[in-house]
Amino acid sequence: MSSEKIIEEKKQGQALLTQQKEGNTKKLYIESYGCQMNLNDSEIVASILSEQGYNTTHLLEEADLVLVNTCSIREKAEQTVRKRLEKYNAIKKINPTMKVGVLGCMAERLKEKFLEEEKIVDLVVGPDAYRDLPNLLKEVSEGRDAVNVILSKEETYADVSPVRLNSNGVSAFVSITRGCDNMCTFCVVPFTRGRERSRDPKSILEEIKELYTKNYKEITLLGQNVDSYLWYGGGLKKDFKKASEIAQTTAVDFAQLLNMVAISFPKMRIRFSTSNPQDMNLNVIHTMAKHKNICKYIHLPVQSGSTSVLKRMNRQHTREEYMELIDNIRKIIPECALSQDLMTGFCGETNEEHQETLSLMEYVKYDFGFMFAYSERPGTPAAKKMEDNVPLSTKKKRLAEIILLQQQHSLYRLKKFIGKTVEILIEGTSKKSDNHWKGRNSQNAVAVFPKGNEKIGDFVNVYIEDCTSATLIGKRI
Ligand code: SAH
Ligand code: F3S
Repeated sequence: MSSEKIIEEKKQGQALLTQQKEGNTKKLYIESYGCQMNLNDSEIVASILSEQGYNTTHLLEEADLVLVNTCSIREKAEQTVRKRLEKYNAIKKINPTMKVGVLGCMAERLKEKFLEEEKIVDLVVGPDAYRDLPNLLKEVSEGRDAVNVILSKEETYADVSPVRLNSNGVSAFVSITRGCDNMCTFCVVPFTRGRERSRDPKSILEEIKELYTKNYKEITLLGQNVDSYLWYGGGLKKDFKKASEIAQTTAVDFAQLLNMVAISFPKMRIRFSTSNPQDMNLNVIHTMAKHKNICKYIHLPVQSGSTSVLKRMNRQHTREEYMELIDNIRKIIPECALSQDLMTGFCGETNEEHQETLSLMEYVKYDFGFMFAYSERPGTPAAKKMEDNVPLSTKKKRLAEIILLQQQHSLYRLKKFIGKTVEILIEGTSKKSDNHWKGRNSQNAVAVFPKGNEKIGDFVNVYIEDCTSATLIGKRI
């Protein structure tokens, strides 16, 4: 018999499900910043600690252990974490036995320095060292500070079944790769998350099966660079060429994995993120087209529309190659939605180069976008070799321009759904109205519609009558 129970809590009006293990008496408060991978890593950490007597809590004040899973991608992300540490410090005055640990990319980047800089921190653990948490906690309980930031060649946490945190019980993340080998000059990830490695497809399918059994309806396959997925028996992607001939010929790539998942779970929706244009290929696009249950949405960060900027960023494609990829996607999957990551003010970015970003946006007319001003990160190739010479005011002005253009394009794309019927997976109650459901269609567009007798997790057909630049508004048919 399972000793697990699911508790339901209300947070900002939304029902959130959390798995709790019976008999556990210690309380873990875990907070995540940054990417979806961090959210999923926190679920892995919660799973490892549930074997150590910890259940999660949403109340900071009652925690025995507070863990913050950090992000280093931009300076602002790190400042946010420093602010949170101040808050924990205030709580520690009331609850002096509470221990505080820092996980994730900042832990990896700053290592022991964290202990010197932030007196409140007892524990510093990098993304590949979460299995060592039980030992590290023992050190802490004996009054010593504990640090483990060793990056691994093998670790994929394949056998750890994540404890789903703050889950809507409908959609879940499944990690398939860790680390990144791309070395984009602006990016800290290869330094904080190490070299790229893929997870055994068998364990991926098992995890999805467990989610399916628990009535989840949608999974997102996660990786820094999912299209680069390659399983050849374990080990680093960069060592693939050194593997035996058999390992090389029986290797599983991303298109094959996607195909396997789609066939094995025909009733589940499948998403994936993030695709790097240099690794996205026609096989993946054809696989998406072949299966109804693979969502027609690709997050395809481009960073800049200018070939010269892309070159300085060490992105492995030109503007023209990216446009060709977009043309192919549109040809093979005409209804496919696309989103971008873009950055303004990278080292040496001229106004002409910025204009090329705007014109690329006009060409693609992305459905969604995630846009940032370039933030120099210590230790990256750009920080070492290039000058961060675009004034902040220019970065911000250009950022405002691309955000404005993206809003127009999002509206343009969403308007195309008006008068059409779309299939929505109900994820919960609309934030703005208790009388409305919210969910997403295959293209990842959020839709709201009046509640009837449906429930969370149902697939329903919704006729779209109107939209804003972020939301479709409709009624069930
Ligand atoms: N492949 C990754 C990209 C991670 S970083 C993924 O899984 O999403 C996410 C986005 O942050 C990048 O696409 C980029 O647009 C932005 N970013 C990365 N480094 C940055 C920096 N130094 N300054 C500003 N934005 C950055
Ligand atoms: Fe970063 Fe480029 Fe990898 S943005 S995560 S180095 S693909």
